[in-house]
Amino acid sequence: MARRAPRKPVDRKPAQTKPAQTARKAPSRRGAGPASILVLSGPNLQLLGTREPEIYGKDTLADIHGRLAALASERGATVDCRQSNHEGELLDWLGAAPWEGFAGVLLNGGAFTHTSLALYDAIRAIGLPVVEVHLSNPEAREAYRKESKLAPACVGKVVGFGANSYLLALRGLLDRLDAQR
Ligand code: DQA
Repeated sequence: MARRAPRKPVDRKPAQTKPAQTARKAPSRRGAGPASILVLSGPNLQLLGTREPEIYGKDTLADIHGRLAALASERGATVDCRQSNHEGELLDWLGAAPWEGFAGVLLNGGAFTHTSLALYDAIRAIGLPVVEVHLSNPEAREAYRKESKLAPACVGKVVGFGANSYLLALRGLLDRLDAQR
């Protein structure tokens, strides 16, 4: 019996790529209940307390987070404080911030401050007010710390007051948000 010719392979269309996300507007939090603020600290800031205390002070990051939570609650607001040594994780948190209902962000980018175009882009992209924070005053230190890649995308910057920089920045951001309500 004549052998059947092997079947021609079926021409398949290439696997469909995911449809491009349709543009969605991030939900606006203006005037909607207590302001929720995202507080991000970048690389090596988990070491506060023991890291070069003559520059950064003796407060731990947990101390600072506790004080921020107390101040936020006095002001009828809330904070969500996070730290990461990974630029990508900071980017993910920033990118999700509008969708998670945050009204603004405090950002101590650590050394990424002086290098990260990606963080600059993320701040620009999310359209939330972001305040740059530093315990030390980088401009009064080594030459390579003088430039902040993030500052041009931020609404303000608080530097040089140790742990208090975070608290002053939170006050400034909440005042700004109140004024816009
Ligand atoms: C810092 C200043 C940065 O230059 C440095 O790389 C840090 C800490 C500050 O809070 O003073 O990690 O962001």
